[in-house]
Amino acid sequence: MRIAAVSDLHVLPDGQDRNLLQAIQQRVEDLQPDVFVIAGDISDYLKVLVDSLSLLHVQGCKNLYVAGNHDIWFEHNGGPGSLEKYSHEIGAICKRKGFLHIPDQPYVTEDTAFVGSIGWYDYSFRQPELDIKIEHYEQKEYRGAVWYDLFRVDWSFNDIEATNLFNQKLEYDLQTLPNSIKRIVYVSHHLPFRDLTVYKNRLPWDFHSAFMGAESSGRILLNDERIVLSISGHSHVRNLIKVGTITAMTVPLGYGRPADEDLEELVEKAVAVIEISDDGLQVPNFIKGDICSGLPYVSSR
Ligand SMILES: [Fe+2]
Ligand SMILES: [Fe+2]
Repeated sequence: MRIAAVSDLHVLPDGQDRNLLQAIQQRVEDLQPDVFVIAGDISDYLKVLVDSLSLLHVQGCKNLYVAGNHDIWFEHNGGPGSLEKYSHEIGAICKRKGFLHIPDQPYVTEDTAFVGSIGWYDYSFRQPELDIKIEHYEQKEYRGAVWYDLFRVDWSFNDIEATNLFNQKLEYDLQTLPNSIKRIVYVSHHLPFRDLTVYKNRLPWDFHSAFMGAESSGRILLNDERIVLSISGHSHVRNLIKVGTITAMTVPLGYGRPADEDLEELVEKAVAVIEISDDGLQVPNFIKGDICSGLPYVSSR
């Protein structure tokens, strides 16, 4: 089985990223994967998500999506809130555009299953030596550095409750897979393993690292011997590690945009390829690090 995976496209509105999306779609089509996975953070706006998935859909393979935190941010012009987006709207849009939002329903093919979750954070990735009080993480603010979910996520759970809720759903999905499943690929937006996080020993970077993921989600994965691969987004620094028998990776593109003639080169780095066979798992030519480093920075926020 061949998987093509990417995340964190952070698509600009009004068609400004049309060439980028078309280049990604073309790249994935050329790779001829069995499954194309996008691990969240396309846009704060459902309209942009609709238009982007239209351009990204690849014929001849299964197209999967997992929402990221940006995708569930409520919109200033009204419309659905975060929970409504995650539990209903995004899944409905995916369906219309030929994608399956796997947090709603795992994708099962022969002996392999794809299980998905936005994941969340419970500050277990924080650096204790920073000596920052837990209240600052709860309030998502420390010395002027703000984790922006504070202003744009409107569900009533706190972060610990959100993490627990998504963990419970993950456990349920794992428990209810058919007996024929021998292999599981986990796709999340937030990170299940602390070791995927890149710390820089400086602020505010390492304060923000506390919002990357939750160790409790990783423990659930490590308890299930069927899980061979974990694909995430959210961190904009690409990483590839081994945790026990699980290969875990982050596959973001990020906020950088090169000149049109260099798009193909960026896209080639951004789309990760994973080959799974009875002989094992291979990730040829994986690029680690920030592939947007040095490029002009764009953000629609
Ligand atoms: Fe992102
Ligand atoms: Fe994110």
